[in-house]
Amino acid sequence: MLTKEKIAEIVENIEYVNQRKKKKKKWMDYQTICSNSHTMYKGQRDIYERLNLIYKEDLQGKSIIDFGCNIGMNCQIAIELGAIKATGVDVYLHLIEIASKLNTLYGNDCSFIQADLAKPVELEKADTGFVFALNAHVNNDEMLAQNIKNNIKDVVYFETHTNKKFRKLPPKVEEIFKTVKLIGKTHKEQRNLYRCIL
Ligand SMILES: C[S@@+](CC[C@H](N)C(=O)[O-])C[C@H]1O[C@@H](n2cnc3c(N)ncnc32)[C@H](O)[C@@H]1O
Repeated sequence: MLTKEKIAEIVENIEYVNQRKKKKKKWMDYQTICSNSHTMYKGQRDIYERLNLIYKEDLQGKSIIDFGCNIGMNCQIAIELGAIKATGVDVYLHLIEIASKLNTLYGNDCSFIQADLAKPVELEKADTGFVFALNAHVNNDEMLAQNIKNNIKDVVYFETHTNKKFRKLPPKVEEIFKTVKLIGKTHKEQRNLYRCIL
């Protein structure tokens, strides 16, 4: 069951605080741990801000892939909002381990896989994809585009970076979509969130 105590246990078990102080492990404090609009651990990013902008028809009854899933909170909240299952992919094993441990508490149909999206990745195709705050970190737009195309069926939500250089869709990624629509600004208006049809 999902309780504050259990979350604290996980956070402690993985030496969250110590590692964060040492700055050895990356991206440990990025996502807020939350459920039913309630925050259990505050990270840099609010999870509901983006997911509440996503069209209901792209979540409800849909399977999800989250590229650069971090500790898996977008997958968990997508399920809370009606998705049937979710798969998260991240390059860092320590994040995948946390995501998997958290999932034992959420008890959702989520799985988390360690893989580098700058290389070919093959998963069971999902209906809807999330590519949030990732484009500045994967140094291979062409491969990111291929991975999106090969693993996502219908629609991709793509959130860009705060840095002006990365504020738009990379051209190599944009060319795989039939349509691209800006649906909102996130993270204090610093990022663009696009709905892209494959
Ligand atoms: C800024 S965080 C965004 C996390 C999440 N997408 C979100 O917006 O809540 C970037 C994430 O991308 C992951 N990442 C960076 N390079 C990656 C790569 N080559 N393949 C897969 N994941 C990667 C990082 O480990 C980190 O979790």
